[in-house]
Amino acid sequence: MKDDTLLVTSGRDPLKQLGAVNTPVYHASTILFPNVQALQDAWQGKGDWLLYGRRGTPTTFGLQEALAELEGGFDCRLVPSGLAAISTALFAYLSAGDHLLMVDSVYGPSRSFCDGTLQRMGVETTYYDPLIGADIASLMLPNTKVVFVESPGSVTFEVQDIPAIAAATHAGGAICIMDNTWATPLFFKPFEHGVDVSVHAATKYIVGHSDAMLGTVTTTESAWPKLLETHNELGLCAGPDDVYLGQRGLRTMGARLRQQQETGLILARWLADRPEVERVLHPALPSDPGHEIWKRDFTGASGLFGAILKSCSQDAVTALVDDLELYGLGYSWGGFESLIMFYDPSKMRTATQWDAPGPTIRIHAGLENPDDLIADLDKGFARFNAKTA
Ligand SMILES: Cc1ncc(COP(=O)(O)O)c(C=O)c1O
Repeated sequence: MKDDTLLVTSGRDPLKQLGAVNTPVYHASTILFPNVQALQDAWQGKGDWLLYGRRGTPTTFGLQEALAELEGGFDCRLVPSGLAAISTALFAYLSAGDHLLMVDSVYGPSRSFCDGTLQRMGVETTYYDPLIGADIASLMLPNTKVVFVESPGSVTFEVQDIPAIAAATHAGGAICIMDNTWATPLFFKPFEHGVDVSVHAATKYIVGHSDAMLGTVTTTESAWPKLLETHNELGLCAGPDDVYLGQRGLRTMGARLRQQQETGLILARWLADRPEVERVLHPALPSDPGHEIWKRDFTGASGLFGAILKSCSQDAVTALVDDLELYGLGYSWGGFESLIMFYDPSKMRTATQWDAPGPTIRIHAGLENPDDLIADLDKGFARFNAKTA
């Protein structure tokens, strides 16, 4: 079945839920067994018995099944946030004395986990250039156990050559973990490109309405036992209401994403023509340095992209952003509404330099009309220019 059909049908069975279209929210901790045989069956995953609330309920199982199927993985586990998905995946495959190769453009809190908890646990991290490609082989050490990729980076939007990196990773005996949040399970199929473990901040497009935190980890069959063990040992489980919101969001994700991709591209092209903009960071634009790899490996773009501004004062950026009517100033993305944020990426990396004349703005295209979004930005640039004049 095609993805659009899977989005609608996967991981739900109304006949098992008294006819309800959506699997209802099961709130459960204790599970009661009618007899010892049922208890033993539950431990072996036989029969219809749950085991314990933390181990999942039909609400959880449905979303896990749908995500594994959509992404083409073996199985999936849910966790309370995207960051928890990243830390769980890293914990699963790293031990004291191991070495991790982490992409320099990674989401900031993932970096903090490596420099904080992982370092404290005796894992050494080397950051690498997102554009390294097959040359990652030169950084592999005998104790390198994980190569982590995030493509494109969610602030600077470099596209990584995942097949080349994954091949070198496997040749060195390590596994490749990918933060696939930007593309969602629809626009990049990690397991077809050599990735072993895919994590998502389902908080973004899967939930899709900016009202719940949720993370997912999906793996290949060979990577699964370690992930399952670590997930169980860490005692992770996502709240049933949030899982329900993830399941509900997933059903409309395809329609939302297509619209947000289109609006994002309209805004990106408009920004590329603005005199205040040095360069737009959007892999789906043919002028983007990552475009060829994006076109080869991805089947779409989400609504999140960036733009480097020409040299300007912070006052000018503040004037641009502060009085926008339709763009919220907020750190997340993936919901139905437009957002804007500004960054100095040079402070967010250690292995590579970010050379840009001005700050980077990041835009998340929501479902508003693109003409209204452009008009709002246009007024913002008038305020920006009044401060630079
Ligand atoms: C690329 C990426 N990965 C992971 C996360 C973390 O997700 P969460 O906020 O659900 O912990 C974020 C959040 O912004 C993100 O942008």
